[in-house]
Amino acid sequence: MSSTNQEITGRTQMQDQTINHLIKWGDHLSVGNPEIDAQHKEIYEFWAEIYESWRDGVRVGELRISTDRLFGLLRTHFLYEERLLGGIGYGDLKRHVAEHRSMLKELQAMREHFKTLADDDDSPGGSVLSPNWSVMQFVLAFTLGHVMTSDMSYVQPLQASRNSEQRTTGSV
Ligand SMILES: [Fe+2]
Ligand SMILES: [Fe+2]
Repeated sequence: MSSTNQEITGRTQMQDQTINHLIKWGDHLSVGNPEIDAQHKEIYEFWAEIYESWRDGVRVGELRISTDRLFGLLRTHFLYEERLLGGIGYGDLKRHVAEHRSMLKELQAMREHFKTLADDDDSPGGSVLSPNWSVMQFVLAFTLGHVMTSDMSYVQPLQASRNSEQRTTGSV
């Protein structure tokens, strides 16, 4: 699309956007726990790398390595979060854990699929036909669907538990 057309329609294509145009990481996404915030940020930053490789075009061999790392990051993060939420007696823990399990299952299915593709399979950058596109959608759903909704739901209970702990220990 020419820049003149863009000015007229206001449209740009996704592959022309940097990651910061899609989702900008910042304090508005903080859950108020430094360790969890750091884990979320690490996942977001890794996603930014995956996003750039989608824009440039990526071979399946590399994509396999990325999804293995993503799986490890998510599994570690989910376990940490579940332990923390279990510790404060979070009321919605069961549903939260179910969402985590479902995401890991989805990512695992992608990893299995990538194993069936040839190592040097690649696709043009920015294509929705790229195997990388499914990973993009997955992490977008993790960020928008899970962190910005389900994770945000435990911010208040977490804060309340911290406050009562501080009152008990008299550390306020
Ligand atoms: Fe999380
Ligand atoms: Fe979570």
